[in-house]
Amino acid sequence: MRLLSLLSTLCFLAKARADVTIYSQVPYYYATAVTSASNPGGTISSTPPNGVDRAYDTSTLDPPPLPNPLPATQWGISVPSNQASATGLSIAIPGNFLGFSIEMSVVTQVIGLNSSFISVPFLNLMASLTSRAGGVHIRIGGNTQDYAVYVPSIPDGSIIEKLNASAINNPTETPPVLYTADMFYLMGNVTNLVKVQWYLGIPFNDTTNLRLQIAEYGDQILGSNILGYQVGNEPDLYAAHGHRPSTYGPEDYFGEFGVVINAVNADNNIPTKNNLIGPNLSGSWTPEEVWDTGFITSYSSSLGVLAVEHYPTDNCLAIYGGNGSPVDYQTEFATYLDHNAGKNITSLYLNSSNIAQAAGKPLMMFETNTASCGGFPGISNSFGAALWGLDYALQMAYSNFSGALFHVGGRDVFYNPFTPPPTNESDFRSWTIGPLFYSTLVAAEIFGTTGTARIVDLNANNGNPTSPAYAIYENNAVTKFAIFNYLDDPTGANNNLVNITLSDNTVPSSVAVKYLTSPSVATIGNISWAGQGYGGVYESDGLLQGEENIHQITCNQGANVCQIPVPAPGFALVFLNPNSDTFSATTYTATAFTNVDNTATVAPSVLATSNGQTGKDRTNLGSTSPGSRPNGAGTALLSREAFAGLMSVCFGLTAVFMGRW
Ligand SMILES: *[C@@H]1O[C@H](CO)[C@@H](O)[C@H](O)[C@H]1NC(C)=O
Ligand SMILES: *[C@@H]1O[C@H](CO)[C@@H](O)[C@H](O)[C@H]1NC(C)=O
Ligand SMILES: *[C@@H]1O[C@H](CO)[C@@H](O)[C@H](O)[C@H]1NC(C)=O
Ligand SMILES: *[C@@H]1O[C@H](CO)[C@@H](O)[C@H](O)[C@H]1NC(C)=O
Ligand SMILES: *[C@@H]1O[C@H](CO)[C@@H](O)[C@H](O)[C@H]1NC(C)=O
Ligand SMILES: *[C@@H]1O[C@H](CO)[C@@H](O)[C@H](O)[C@H]1NC(C)=O
Repeated sequence: MRLLSLLSTLCFLAKARADVTIYSQVPYYYATAVTSASNPGGTISSTPPNGVDRAYDTSTLDPPPLPNPLPATQWGISVPSNQASATGLSIAIPGNFLGFSIEMSVVTQVIGLNSSFISVPFLNLMASLTSRAGGVHIRIGGNTQDYAVYVPSIPDGSIIEKLNASAINNPTETPPVLYTADMFYLMGNVTNLVKVQWYLGIPFNDTTNLRLQIAEYGDQILGSNILGYQVGNEPDLYAAHGHRPSTYGPEDYFGEFGVVINAVNADNNIPTKNNLIGPNLSGSWTPEEVWDTGFITSYSSSLGVLAVEHYPTDNCLAIYGGNGSPVDYQTEFATYLDHNAGKNITSLYLNSSNIAQAAGKPLMMFETNTASCGGFPGISNSFGAALWGLDYALQMAYSNFSGALFHVGGRDVFYNPFTPPPTNESDFRSWTIGPLFYSTLVAAEIFGTTGTARIVDLNANNGNPTSPAYAIYENNAVTKFAIFNYLDDPTGANNNLVNITLSDNTVPSSVAVKYLTSPSVATIGNISWAGQGYGGVYESDGLLQGEENIHQITCNQGANVCQIPVPAPGFALVFLNPNSDTFSATTYTATAFTNVDNTATVAPSVLATSNGQTGKDRTNLGSTSPGSRPNGAGTALLSREAFAGLMSVCFGLTAVFMGRW
């Protein structure tokens, strides 16, 4: 308690000084990336040096060489402003299109130890998505879900216990888990703070002895904040993994799915009967093989969502051994920096997204990431992965998926959107935020809160795969353009200049542009979204740091053109109506949730973000040059922003110490 009061004093002093030189109070610096010179040939290992967990590895690859011939650097986009004249638009896409799939066995690493001890950085990250998208969808599951077992309590007081992985034949070595009812209270308390809603999975390892507790507790404790229950995780791999006989096929899955439906329908402790999710295929069977069993028509009244899972490739050989030739990461890198990377995946599901629409069911990508078995060092954690993840997400939306979840493993994988510090470190400011979190943040801003966003792939620059672009329509008019440049050229010679024209209207007098940038596609840690970022390895408390920098670009209305520079590498989000209602007014301020009594059942946690399309952004739009702030106005805003971050540090530390003392 003495420590607490000392901290409070420090925080109070910091607060008093907040409006003077705040940045010396909250230093912000990026991790220094390992240069390729120190990494000759770009040959990096799937085992980081010095026993560092893979999630914190900073070994970099070389950026892929520029293509030959080089694509045009100046090109145009012309679309109608009026949605009625536009063609090829997707279905309406929600702001929370991108969410997360968190491996069940790592819930206590990532979300919180129990219902009264929630990770503040996790809450901050979710709050920044909620302020942009109105909410976040998270699936708790993965390989572990099929073997999860409910127990009333676990002897050491934990809410989830990992069992011996070798006890079941699980190729990704994800340990099966025991869980207690407090897992649901943890989820419920997260929902109360940051509007997360949840997907879970009904254990499916033995359908002759079903364990439905997850749905019973889920429905009873979380009610409508449960979005659905998966039935089977990657059943098309069951035979290969020895979890079912070698003859196991789509008809067998169809039959077992029916067993679960009957059991749920007969269980009075599960009031919701229509939110089951299948077939959750990994890609070994085609979805059509399952549709052809009559799956959708037979089970329509029980199905909430149709789902698939897909990773473009895998790193299993390097991680777990076996036969085959190892992946050369340097060669592999270029395949991610290409518009076809996402299209090659979505093309597998276009027929299914049509079938889903006809059946009135959403189609979701329930688990995805850069590569299964933990991803690739130097790719999964690079800026290139942020561009890949965003383009892939926009391509899924354009292909009429209704949502997609990036997988979060543990500290032993390269691809996490966010990773808490190693268990031996307790500093709450030392999370590591990965590139796919930036993809998620930007996608949340792209689709926003209207629920009306429709997106079209413009096949831009004559379909050159290094420079894809999309238009976004909201409330029946074009509102945004999303423009990529995958090329990596520090000389600037391959920066693009994109001419935006409206075919049925005149461009506005000016547009606002936010950039997603980093020095190189290979950079690890140093990513900026409109001037703000989460720093490098071990550097984040879950709050964006730095000053937000929105560029205002004056258009030529006489020529009906807005010229948008896009750096190589980089991404630009162009807002056509920066002052309209398409900007959400949500502003989070530092808010403390303190415990009600001294037995401390609810740890203090802090939600502080001041981003998204807030009033603050509008003020900053007055800025005329990159990095500058309008006179006067910016000062107060800067202080408020930084102050929020600082307060969260104070409250966050308090949270950590509350738990330990
Ligand atoms: C885990 O299970 C395997 C196989 O059943 C066994 O050989 C091993 O000793 C177990 N390890 C622990 C830590 O219990
Ligand atoms: C939050 O957690 C506490 C237990 O620590 C529980 O009593 C309470 O019901 C939880 N709230 C929700 C909404 O789940
Ligand atoms: C789409 O899937 C349905 C159901 O499996 C199948 O009958 C049809 O041939 C497929 N169409 C295409 C174009 O693949
Ligand atoms: C997405 O769905 C819309 C509405 O049904 C349709 O017009 C469009 O062609 C679909 N997009 C793709 C890529 O199939
Ligand atoms: C935690 O473990 C890592 C890896 O062994 C080590 O480098 C680091 O110094 C440890 N930190 C503390 C606080 O012991
Ligand atoms: C939750 O975890 C914290 C930190 O380990 C612990 O102090 C607290 O007693 C736990 N609460 C419950 C209700 O188990």
